Amino acid sequence: MLKLCGLQFLLAVQWAACQNLGDLHLTGPLKDMNFSIPEGTGVRAIYQFTSESPDVIFRATGEKDGLIDIVPDTGILYLNGSLDWETKAVHKLQVEILNKNGDVVKGPCAVTIYVEDINDNPPKFDQAQYTGVVRQNSRAGKPFMRVHATDLDDPTTPHAQLNYSIPHHFPNPYSEMLFQINSLTGEISPSRTGSFYLDPQKQDTFTLVVSVKDMAGLTENAFKNSVDVKITVKESLWKAPPTITIKENSTQPHPVNISQVHSNEADVIYEVFEKETLAKLPFSIDQNGSIYVTEPLDREEKDAYSFFVITKDKGGELVDKPLKINIIVEDINDNPPVCQNAVTTLEVQENESGGSSIGTLSATDMDQKDTLNSRLKFKILSQDPAVPTSNLFFIQQDTGVLQLHGHSLNKRIASNYSLKVQVTDEVFQTICDVQIHVIDINDQIPIFEKSDYYSVTVAESLPVGTVLLEIQATDGDEPATGSSYIIYQVKEGDPDNTFIIETDPETNRGFLKINKALDFETAEVHNLVINATNPEPLVSGVQYNSSSLTLFKVFVTNVDEPPAFHKEVYTTELSEDVPVNTLVVTVEAHDPEGDAVRYSLEGDWRKWLRIDSTTGQIYTASALDREQEQVYRVDVVASEISNAAQKFKTPLVLNLKDVNDNAPRLNMDYPLFFCYPLRGGDRTLIRATDDDEQKFYSTITFSLKDDVATRNNWEILKVNATHAYLSPRHTNFEEKVYTVPMIISDNGVPPLEREVILEVNICTCSSENSCFIPVEREHSKPSTGQAIGILLGVLIVIGVIVGGAFFHMRYKEKNKKKSQQKDAKDQTECDKLNA
Ligand SMILES: *[C@@H]1O[C@H](CO)[C@@H](O)[C@H](O)[C@H]1NC(C)=O
Ligand SMILES: *[C@@H]1O[C@H](CO)[C@@H](O)[C@H](O)[C@H]1NC(C)=O
Ligand SMILES: *[C@@H]1O[C@H](CO)[C@@H](O)[C@H](O)[C@H]1NC(C)=O
Ligand SMILES: *[C@@H]1O[C@H](CO)[C@@H](O)[C@H](O)[C@H]1NC(C)=O
Ligand SMILES: *[C@@H]1O[C@H](CO)[C@@H](O)[C@H](O)[C@H]1NC(C)=O
Ligand SMILES: *[C@@H]1O[C@H](CO)[C@@H](O)[C@H](O)[C@H]1NC(C)=O
Ligand SMILES: *[C@@H]1O[C@H](CO)[C@@H](O)[C@H](O)[C@H]1NC(C)=O
Ligand SMILES: *[C@@H]1O[C@H](CO)[C@@H](O)[C@H](O)[C@H]1NC(C)=O
Ligand SMILES: *[C@@H]1O[C@H](CO)[C@@H](O)[C@H](O)[C@H]1NC(C)=O
Ligand SMILES: *[C@@H]1O[C@H](CO)[C@@H](O)[C@H](O)[C@H]1NC(C)=O
Ligand SMILES: *[C@@H]1O[C@H](CO)[C@@H](O)[C@H](O)[C@H]1NC(C)=O
Repeated sequence: MLKLCGLQFLLAVQWAACQNLGDLHLTGPLKDMNFSIPEGTGVRAIYQFTSESPDVIFRATGEKDGLIDIVPDTGILYLNGSLDWETKAVHKLQVEILNKNGDVVKGPCAVTIYVEDINDNPPKFDQAQYTGVVRQNSRAGKPFMRVHATDLDDPTTPHAQLNYSIPHHFPNPYSEMLFQINSLTGEISPSRTGSFYLDPQKQDTFTLVVSVKDMAGLTENAFKNSVDVKITVKESLWKAPPTITIKENSTQPHPVNISQVHSNEADVIYEVFEKETLAKLPFSIDQNGSIYVTEPLDREEKDAYSFFVITKDKGGELVDKPLKINIIVEDINDNPPVCQNAVTTLEVQENESGGSSIGTLSATDMDQKDTLNSRLKFKILSQDPAVPTSNLFFIQQDTGVLQLHGHSLNKRIASNYSLKVQVTDEVFQTICDVQIHVIDINDQIPIFEKSDYYSVTVAESLPVGTVLLEIQATDGDEPATGSSYIIYQVKEGDPDNTFIIETDPETNRGFLKINKALDFETAEVHNLVINATNPEPLVSGVQYNSSSLTLFKVFVTNVDEPPAFHKEVYTTELSEDVPVNTLVVTVEAHDPEGDAVRYSLEGDWRKWLRIDSTTGQIYTASALDREQEQVYRVDVVASEISNAAQKFKTPLVLNLKDVNDNAPRLNMDYPLFFCYPLRGGDRTLIRATDDDEQKFYSTITFSLKDDVATRNNWEILKVNATHAYLSPRHTNFEEKVYTVPMIISDNGVPPLEREVILEVNICTCSSENSCFIPVEREHSKPSTGQAIGILLGVLIVIGVIVGGAFFHMRYKEKNKKKSQQKDAKDQTECDKLNA
């Protein structure tokens, strides 16, 4: 029974409280002791030291600071006022026992009082107001300023853990906020919306209300403070220059500066980034954003370029959105006209009348079309031989069209003229050669050697290109001219162009070839009428007659062909949970010869399907599973019953639709741990996934199993659809592996859930990030340190009870038992030392 109640400063305390104290064994022999006392509790007793010998006096020395003392005759250590963590966090005292003569009989023992911080200081911003500048189009999440607040409370506790937020800003024209703050660092950056919409033309100043809360912002009772942040929005510097024009074939020394871009941010690395894949991009950029062309360009090779300029930070992350740079290469007249043919050969009939057009001289110029740089002019320089006159021919200056000048040609005077034609653009000139052959008039028709080539019998499988027949006609006109060259065509009996006839220009021999595959089933016989004509028109009065025609029959024989499917590919969609024996699709094939067909499957390696060999109906043969095969491909085979070797395959593509048939599962390849001892505010990320399609687990629910131990020890905080934080509810964890049973469920209808057991290591850490010693799995006995920890915990509980003695005590019996146990384990180390 404590004799506290006699003390003057506790007289105010009700007698009932004394009774409680008496039960609590806040008493024991003198030894080294540590106490942990919350600040601001006021006047209270801490502990009563006892002594075996009677008639002694207790004395405390050290950092009593006028607040802590001991009652000399009873040994009661007490507080005469409130402790303040911010003033002094630890009080070190020495306590000794003296006899009547003033000799020390025991001690001094070290009695240390640790002051526990309570959250009694609100956070304070360093400035009364902040200002910042942000550029339009700044990268979302890239801080442009920061705010900072300080909190006088114990930085190792949540009391000084600050959490910044922007509750609102003015104006706020969009549904999403334009600015965001890093809740830990106070760094302010544009949000995604802000990165997109901030525009000084629309709104160039904003006032942000920035709040800071202690207790990491996690409780209602946290202290909160706010400050105004004035933000000015400035125009984006990051703008593409207008289209740049560069004259081709420049003689300036390269590289040549053509433009400059500016990033909104300092210290970025500029790079050019090809849009097209060119062998080499002839542009570069320096670290001030100046863009250069690195070599002379050639418009005739490439007349426009576009590429992107990008900016990266030191870490290689893109800073600004890519800017598109457009370059147009301006033409200069640097290409001479070019004759299309080395020699242009034209033919003209002997009796062609004056003014007739006899052909065109083609020339080109690579310079830009429809400009003077590529505009060509034609002029005849010479005619050889110059008989009977030197100006038999005329050329149209703009078009190159050659005409007869009026004089009729005469083969006997000259059969052959060569012209030199000058072709000029503004700068260059080129001479083109033209040969003009005077040819006989076309007054002979081609005559076939035979009027009937009779027939040939061929298999329908004969390949395209096979020559079936050689034919011959002759023409009496001048050889090697358009008057004697023969064109053979099938005039009748081949509406589908199954045949084609080619002429050997040397011999005028014709070759009848298969142009398209023969098909017995379509046509068993082709009755062909073939004509022979000249490219030059016949002179009037002469006409093709039946001597220019011949006949030929092609008989086609049947070849057994494999069956063919009605579709090139069968595609169908099916839910993965359809019962076995569901009809998937019916395939149909038929044989050109009309033979019966049987169906089979190939490549059904999962044995999911079966086919009715006569009807072509395909059914499921076992349970399907989209998670194994989202798109299942097999081949359907149709073969002739009478000749199984005649077969044909076509693909069947089965798209499986998902149903919610997988419960979510944890998806973590890292061990979960917390560093011992826990400091409060710890948490760790847990991650889950689901093998079904995303729509079925767009929200995974994490919950703790409903047992008291788990609920008392742990807490789960949802992060997003797939992530959650696991955090301890208190800090009194031992250094061991805890198992946390939890349930994760998806959002299917109905949802599927899975029970999982998380193993959480509480371990000593070498640094913040790793377990120092792997915790042993079996339960070890609590060490002395742990015992003292527990004792301290109990003492704190008692302290609170004493301080708040007006409250009713409910857990009297429990506490009594606990503290008795702990006392039994205590080693009186101070005694040992003094012995
Ligand atoms: C008191 O705490 C200090 C520092 O934590 C420790 O070194 C000392 O051993 C403790 N004393 C007792 C008696 O628990
Ligand atoms: C407690 O402190 C007050 C003044 O701060 C003093 O008058 C009083 O004597 C002290 N009481 C004890 C028991 O130390
Ligand atoms: C800050 O507080 C908010 C709630 O106000 C919370 O969502 C967020 O996780 C906290 N941030 C930190 C770093 O604790
Ligand atoms: C550049 O121009 C010169 C004449 O000015 C010409 O000789 C040269 O071929 C041109 N180069 C290209 C690549 O066009
Ligand atoms: C390149 O030209 C731009 C103007 O187009 C100019 O602002 C920039 O200073 C020049 N850069 C260099 C390196 O001369
Ligand atoms: C960039 O500009 C600075 C200052 O105008 C200049 O000193 C530096 O040489 C320039 N760098 C390049 C690569 O042109
Ligand atoms: C060419 O001469 C023939 C007679 O040989 C005549 O029938 C024909 O009309 C003449 N053609 C021209 C275009 O004068
Ligand atoms: C044209 O005449 C030249 C000589 O003047 C001769 O070599 C050439 O073979 C002739 N061509 C024809 C098609 O007559
Ligand atoms: C020759 O046959 C082709 C193809 O049927 C036809 O276009 C052409 O008019 C025929 N020519 C004559 C002269 O019958
Ligand atoms: C076709 O005309 C030629 C002369 O151009 C003549 O020799 C031949 O006999 C004629 N053939 C028929 C079948 O009339
Ligand atoms: C959920 O949160 C985690 C951790 O913050 C993050 O890595 C992940 O990308 C987030 N997932 C989604 C879909 O937002």
